[in-house]
Amino acid sequence: PRFPYRGMHLDVARHFMPESFIYKILDYMAIHKLNRFHWHLVDDQGWRIEIKQYPELTNIGAWRVDMNERHWNDRPLTNDRSNADYGGFYTQEQIRRIVAYAKQRNITVMPEIEMPAHVMSALAAYPELSCTGENLGVPPGGVWPITHIYCAGNEQTFTFIENVLTEVMDLFPSELIHIGGDEADKTNWQKCTKCQQRIKDEGLANEAELQSYFVRRIGEFLNKNNRTLVGWDEILEGGSINNTVIMSWRGEEGGIEAAKNGNKAIMTPGSHCYFDHYQGDEDLEPLAFGGYTPLKKVYDYEPIPTQLNDEQAKLIIGAQANHWSEYMPNEKQVEYMAFPRLAALAEVLWSPKNARSWPDFSRRMYAQYNRYEILGINYSKSAFQVKINAEADTLTKSIKLKLETDVPNAEIRYTINGNEPNINSSKYTTPV
Ligand code: ACM
Ligand code: ZN
Repeated sequence: PRFPYRGMHLDVARHFMPESFIYKILDYMAIHKLNRFHWHLVDDQGWRIEIKQYPELTNIGAWRVDMNERHWNDRPLTNDRSNADYGGFYTQEQIRRIVAYAKQRNITVMPEIEMPAHVMSALAAYPELSCTGENLGVPPGGVWPITHIYCAGNEQTFTFIENVLTEVMDLFPSELIHIGGDEADKTNWQKCTKCQQRIKDEGLANEAELQSYFVRRIGEFLNKNNRTLVGWDEILEGGSINNTVIMSWRGEEGGIEAAKNGNKAIMTPGSHCYFDHYQGDEDLEPLAFGGYTPLKKVYDYEPIPTQLNDEQAKLIIGAQANHWSEYMPNEKQVEYMAFPRLAALAEVLWSPKNARSWPDFSRRMYAQYNRYEILGINYSKSAFQVKINAEADTLTKSIKLKLETDVPNAEIRYTINGNEPNINSSKYTTPV
């Protein structure tokens, strides 16, 4: 393969996915020769991994109030536990089985344990680890900005995280351990006397450097245990940290900066690798996060930025597709968003750059779609969506309609009487 890291990420925090589905995902990854499963186990809306020393993480943090009938970003906070019954978690025994199953398929499972933000599920269980000590509950939907985060001035926070990570490392042999690090709003750190004391004691310039201190400390703890810290590109803010791997998501800049500093990076830019984005016309697709990342765009992705020289390029160890599940409430929707785009990314990561050809890939995909049918995968056919381009001629007062699909030479049929086209409708050959 062209790249050693060929990843798929799955967010099981926003919507819990059952153990049986994780096995399916691992099988599907193996079919596509993907070898890294990035398991997003912690977020504001759910803590999904059993930690023996802190049972409240899953007793409380794994369960939220079901408001699935409301839009994700229109769900009020609540700390009423009486009907917090939506969610779930994986026991340590289940996780060991999953990790072993993955290994048999040449897949390493990399856990992500978020910090210092995206942890309101943990803080619902242990509010004393936040700056304010408030109990805001497990959010039933979107939270923005994310201000309720771990206190970086409190030693208890670090004891807690190290204890959690010790159990995590015992479950996951992966050298790479992802600690999140994204989207922490530092408002509470600015107001917290403990955080401000830490800034003073450590001679830090500001809250960005306090996050760096946080990440560096956790990185050193992981290094002592022969592991390497992976973080979202925000961990570059407040100063680059050696011996970390950057996951570049806000474009490729983070990956470029990491490589120029001699650190490894994994590319997962929103533009090409966020599979929670639409893959077809928004009006025809199920509700998604936003964006527009059709199959062809994924196939055209080039993970090595032109800004890097040959030595730096070697530090780009691969790329990954991210499946954030705010708008993927069930298995079928994850499959729909993942396939066939994962096939395109797999080829990007596997094949030599100059061996790639969109027409050839499109032709070979017909066989892949047949495999998906047989496997019962709920794949998307959006690459066949017809785009209608109108061209007006003001002299002749006529409009010419050109019909196109991303798939070359796909058969297009149409009607002009308002009926749904079918196999007997007129075949499109030239503009109408
Ligand atoms: C991210 O999408 N917040 C990494
Ligand atoms: Zn604090």
